[in-house]
Amino acid sequence: MGTADADRALRTAKLVGNDVAGIDVNMGCPKPFSIKGGMGAALLSQPERIRDILTALVKGLPEKRITCKIRLLPTEEATLSLAKLIESTGVAALGVHGRLQAQRPREPVSEAQAALIKKVASSLSIPVIANGGSLDIKAYSDLAPFQATTGCTSVMLARAAQWNMSVFRPEGLLPTEDVVRAYLRLAAQVDNPWENSKFCIMTTLHHEQVTERGKAVRESKSLREMCAVFGIEKEYDAIIAARRNRAAELGIAIDPDDDAMFDGSDDVVGGEPNSKRRRLTPAVGDDGVTRLKVVYNRKEHAEGMNPKSLLLCYCKKQMIPPPAYTCSETAMKRFVAVVDINGNKYGATPGESTKKKAEQAAAQVFLIATDLKLNRDGTVVGEEVQAKAKEEKGTAKEKVAGKGTQDPEEGAAAAGAAAAASGDGAAAVEKAAGKEDGGGAAASVATADAAGSVA
Ligand SMILES: Cc1cc2nc3c(=O)[nH]c(=O)nc-3n(C[C@H](O)[C@H](O)[C@H](O)COP(=O)(O)O)c2cc1C
Repeated sequence: MGTADADRALRTAKLVGNDVAGIDVNMGCPKPFSIKGGMGAALLSQPERIRDILTALVKGLPEKRITCKIRLLPTEEATLSLAKLIESTGVAALGVHGRLQAQRPREPVSEAQAALIKKVASSLSIPVIANGGSLDIKAYSDLAPFQATTGCTSVMLARAAQWNMSVFRPEGLLPTEDVVRAYLRLAAQVDNPWENSKFCIMTTLHHEQVTERGKAVRESKSLREMCAVFGIEKEYDAIIAARRNRAAELGIAIDPDDDAMFDGSDDVVGGEPNSKRRRLTPAVGDDGVTRLKVVYNRKEHAEGMNPKSLLLCYCKKQMIPPPAYTCSETAMKRFVAVVDINGNKYGATPGESTKKKAEQAAAQVFLIATDLKLNRDGTVVGEEVQAKAKEEKGTAKEKVAGKGTQDPEEGAAAAGAAAAASGDGAAAVEKAAGKEDGGGAAASVATADAAGSVA
C-alpha cells in the first residue's frame, strides 16, 4: 500500500486483511502522485513516520506478514541505519530497490549499488529481497547471479515479469506469443477487464508494439478482438460458452443483457461481425442520466458520420438546441461525458481515454437508446424517403397517369415515389435508394445500431 499515515494505513489494512497473506508498504515510488501525498519515496526522509506506520501495522495485524520496500539512500550509513530501524519494527522482510529516489528505471543498478544491497542483507537478520534488476534479467537463469551479487534471500521482479512472465519459469523463457495466448485464455476464464488485459498485453509486446500485431492489439476494444489477433478467438468463444453453461448449471441468475457477468466484450463491434448481437437495456440513474455500456470506436463510423456530427445535424433538423456535453475525469483517469438533448441526458460507461471519445460515446448512447438511425444530414432514415415521396407524389402521379419517361433512373424514382404514395414504405425505401443512390444510400445510413458498440 501507499500511505503517509499510521492510523489510516491500519484501517485500510484491516479492510483487506482477510483477503491477503501480507501487506507491503511502498517506500520507493518517486512519482508525483505519491510524493505529493507524503507517500512512497517521500517516507524515506521521515524515519519516525516509517516507524509509526510499520509498528501500527505489525501490532494491529499480528497474524499478517507486514513488509516494506525502500530505495537506497544517498549514503551507505543512512541506508543501513534506515534498514535497521525498519527491522526493529517487527516487519517480516525488507525489499530493497537498488536505485536512489532520483534514478529512473532505465538506469542500470550499478555494482556499488548491488554491493550496498548486499551490506543491508548481511546486517539484518530478517529476509532481504533484492529488486531493480529487470534490465539484466531476461530469463530465470539470470536470477541467481543477481541474487548472488546482492546477497539477498530472494529477488523481486517488476518489469521483467511484465515483459515476459515466463521469466519465472525454471525451464526457460517461452516465446512472447505463447505467453500472450496463455494470458488471454486465463483472462477469459477469470473475467479480467479487457482494458487491463490490453495494458498487460501491450506491455508484454514491449518492442513489438510497433508491429502489425502490436497495432492490432492497440486498436482492439474487446478481449475477443485481442484473442482474434492471436488466432484463438474460437477458444475464447468456447471458454465463454462453458462459463455460461456453468452459470446455468449452478442456477445463477444471469441477465442475458448483462455481459459484465462474463467479460463485457463479446458484443463490441468487430468482435463478432456477423453474429446476432444482443441489445442492452439502457438504465436511467438517480441523476436522470440514461446510461449504456458503450465503447466508441472511430473505425465503425464513416467519414463525417460520427455520433457527435450526426447528433448535431439531427438537432438542427429537429430545431432543438444543439447537444450540450459535460465531461468529467474519473479516479482511474478515464473520461465520462453526458450529453443533454433537449433536457434528456445520456452517458456511456465505463469511460474513455480522451474527452473527445467520451463525448462520442455519450452521443452514441443517445442514438442507441432512442433507436434512431440517421442519415448524414441528420434526417431520420426512412423519413426523408417519405418526405421525398410526398414531394414527388404529384409528379409521379402525373407520370403514372400516362406521360411516361425514357430515363430508367427517373422511372425507378418515380416507381419508388409511387410505392410510397401507395403506403408501401419498405418498397419505397428499396426502390428509391437502390436506384437513385446506386448503393450510396446504404453507406450513408448511420449504424447507430446498439449492436455496433455495446460492450
Ligand atoms: C507497473 C509498475 C507498478 C509498480 N507498482 C509498485 C508498487 O505498487 N509498489 C512498489 O513498491 N513498487 C512498485 N513498482 C516498482 C517496482 O516494484 C520496482 O521497484 C521497479 O520497477 C524496479 O524493479 P524492476 O527493475 O524489476 O522493474 C512498480 C513498477 C511498475 C513497472
